[in-house]
Amino acid sequence: MPESNEIRSPGSCTAVVGLQWGDEGKGKVVDLLAEGHDATVRYNGGANAGHSVVVGGERYALHLIPSGILAKGKLAVVGNGVVVDPEKLIEEIEGLERRNVDVSGLVISNRAHVVLDYHKLEDALREDLLAAAKGKSTSGRDSGPGQIGTTRRGIGPAYAEKVNRATALRIGDLVNPDVVRERITLACGVKNAMLQGISGSYTPLNPIDIADRAIECGKRLSPRIRDTTYLLHDLLSEGKRLLFEGANATLLDVDHGTFPYVTSSSCAVSGIGPGTGVPPNRLSRIIGVAKAYSTRVGAGPMPTELFDAVGEGIRTRGREFGTTTGRPRRVGWLDLVALRYSVMINGVDEIALTLLDVLPGVERPRVCTAYRIGDAKTDRFIPDGATLANVEPVYHDLGPIEHGLAACRTFDDLPQNARAYIEFVERFVGAQVTIVGVGPGREQTLVRERR
Ligand code: GDP
Ligand code: IMO
Ligand code: MG
Repeated sequence: MPESNEIRSPGSCTAVVGLQWGDEGKGKVVDLLAEGHDATVRYNGGANAGHSVVVGGERYALHLIPSGILAKGKLAVVGNGVVVDPEKLIEEIEGLERRNVDVSGLVISNRAHVVLDYHKLEDALREDLLAAAKGKSTSGRDSGPGQIGTTRRGIGPAYAEKVNRATALRIGDLVNPDVVRERITLACGVKNAMLQGISGSYTPLNPIDIADRAIECGKRLSPRIRDTTYLLHDLLSEGKRLLFEGANATLLDVDHGTFPYVTSSSCAVSGIGPGTGVPPNRLSRIIGVAKAYSTRVGAGPMPTELFDAVGEGIRTRGREFGTTTGRPRRVGWLDLVALRYSVMINGVDEIALTLLDVLPGVERPRVCTAYRIGDAKTDRFIPDGATLANVEPVYHDLGPIEHGLAACRTFDDLPQNARAYIEFVERFVGAQVTIVGVGPGREQTLVRERR
């Protein structure tokens, strides 16, 4: 333990956080930075996340395991704020092992909450009911009124279970079969009573089968289960460097996003404290990740959405199909009003601007600099789903970005209009772009020192 007057331990903390609606390329940025850190830490979300990393031409898709696992000899920590589907986690571990990835550094918080079959069932059931409900849709495309378009991975119901407390199960409980059976029997009793009432075709849950599978997972995962809060503080005391990997993104944050079209966790960096036990004053570097355009999966407003051939071209070139669900992502122009808001919410020091290589071919790239609502104009973001659905974007046009970005290896290699695009973003949002993505590969990343 440190001396009583040594309040601060010497380690450092970097955070990587998504600034839009997810899929900004956080996995790639984390992979890039992992080498210079000792541990990568997930603090929120669950298997709704899909982080792709391309190393040496090989593509890896990570859902629950921190992307830093691909860097050799590092710790990968699943913090208490994550909701863990244990069967999915084991599947992911085994998938990596089959590809000869060393997963010995993976540890899981004993206080992370468990996602079980009934959470996934409830997630899907709620979505189906909302899709079938009659009413006026404010939710965007491909969904019924009020439907959120979730990943159906049980995320919302698992976080609700945590907040409801009595029937929740934590990863640390999995090693105690009596607790597992008792808690799951209690949960199934409550859920059968509730769910049978809302769906005639509902088959009652069998607690014995669910508990047996959970106990089996507990056996498999037990060597990895730890008090990760003390682990992280011990690492900091030893001077180690931690890298926090945000899942989902700021505009999907349950408090700061486009509610109700959000996920159920604190995705912004403010989620690091509750999701790991590492306090906010330990963060020394906050890197916000943004695409050079916008994408969104599922329902909810997206003011700059494109429904034309330009959008289709971006979707095709950017391979904009979900890592987790395979759904085509909605595509739009870069929304700088939203981006500046996310920079503010997270206290972003630096921006990683990804997928810039997708924009060449677009004749007249535009960025949104304000919203019109009726006769009024604002340059402030509106984190409310229904209100944001009624804004009209105000655009600023920029010069066509030159082809051949994928071959650039330094900032100085970037051609004129590409640089002008980056500089416009920097000026508007008030943060420096220090990383630029010009392709999915690790080497297709331009990095520069912070001014
Ligand atoms: P995450 O959820 O934020 O980690 O992002 P995803 O992995 O879901 O989606 C980002 C996609 O873009 C993945 O397919 C990446 O391989 C890819 N990608 C990341 N950075 C770049 C880039 O700079 N250029 C191109 N073309 N693809 C990129
Ligand atoms: P990564 O980490 C993109 C979206 C879903 C849906 C809403 C709620 O890969 O960036 P949920 O299943 O969480 O209840 O769904 O949030 N969503 C994501 N969209 N990337 C993600 O993660 C997402 N995680 C959740 O599509 O609209
Ligand atoms: Mg993703």
